[in-house]
Amino acid sequence: MATKKILIVPGDGIGQEVTAAGKKVLDKIAAKFGHTFQYDEALIGHAAIEATGQALPDVSLEKMRASDAVLFGAVGHPKYDNDPSAKVRPEQGLLKMRKELGLYANLRPIKLFDELLEASSIKPEILKGADILFFRELTGDIYFGEKGRKNNGDTAFDIAEYSRYEVERIARKAFEAARGRRKKLCSVDKANVLETSRLWRETVQQVAKEYPDVELEHQFVDSMAMLLIKDPRRYDVVVTANLFGDILTDEASQIAGSMGMLASASIGDGTGVYEPIHGSAHDITGKGIANPLASILSAALLLDISFGLKAEAAAIINAVDQVLKAGYRTKDIANATTPANMILNTEAMGQEVVNRL
Ligand code: IPM
Ligand code: MG
Repeated sequence: MATKKILIVPGDGIGQEVTAAGKKVLDKIAAKFGHTFQYDEALIGHAAIEATGQALPDVSLEKMRASDAVLFGAVGHPKYDNDPSAKVRPEQGLLKMRKELGLYANLRPIKLFDELLEASSIKPEILKGADILFFRELTGDIYFGEKGRKNNGDTAFDIAEYSRYEVERIARKAFEAARGRRKKLCSVDKANVLETSRLWRETVQQVAKEYPDVELEHQFVDSMAMLLIKDPRRYDVVVTANLFGDILTDEASQIAGSMGMLASASIGDGTGVYEPIHGSAHDITGKGIANPLASILSAALLLDISFGLKAEAAAIINAVDQVLKAGYRTKDIANATTPANMILNTEAMGQEVVNRL
């Protein structure tokens, strides 16, 4: 029976709506399995900028450090997308959180629920049975290198940088995970062009010697973008750098039917952060139609990885599966044949999962 502190950080847009559903599911788990979860909330992103002028206020960071795990929503606001000159931006809060908490490994499991075979834009016979676990490096690369302007602002630069230890630690995590799965690891880089990628490949090959039981392959990122859609079942665990992982996992979301289904875990030195891979989606914010399943599945990852509560995590995944089997859908995963009364709003979908727990 665990007593744990969970920090809810809804952030912006649909982050509010979906984390509310995630929290309800955690409450149900606590009641059912006899755990005590203590909650607190913190601001990040546009919501934090409006309230404090900062994208990640110090109080939020302190609360994160003091909690056992964070259930995170999303950050972003359309206001900044067309204003490249804005100095303070919601995404800075997210990046600062990743760096400050040392969240160097981002796990993005891509698993297709059979009931959603038809929701994807890829042919069902290509998809059926696909099950990939991405390890995206999260605190290095072009995201965190020096950036700036020169030549009176007419030239811009972003430096990509990786150190050996950064590649080693993410590679080890990926090899370990592969060991517990189908023992296949694909490392993705651009070693035919980039020096950081050559260090990446060299380091992954070095680490591979500790894992002779895991079959390692290397792919260039451009080729991987194609292979992922052509033959997703070929992959088990995939490890890649920050920017490549950002792009490939959005692409891979189509293997799972919808972005609205994908959960992720960001782990490293301290508190783990669990969040949907989808963004703040301001186009549907406040309409109550967002798919809460990614947040609910993020709560399952939280229980599994940060608290070691495997049975509780499995119960959530099973409940989600049951709800989908019963035919319930949110708008993003519905299709032309879904009866109107089976298309649920965010709250009702969350409630269906709770009911099955
Ligand atoms: C993600 C997002 C973020 C990223 C953005 C919001 C900064 O796309 O978590 O994948 O690029 O890492
Ligand atoms: Mg992304």
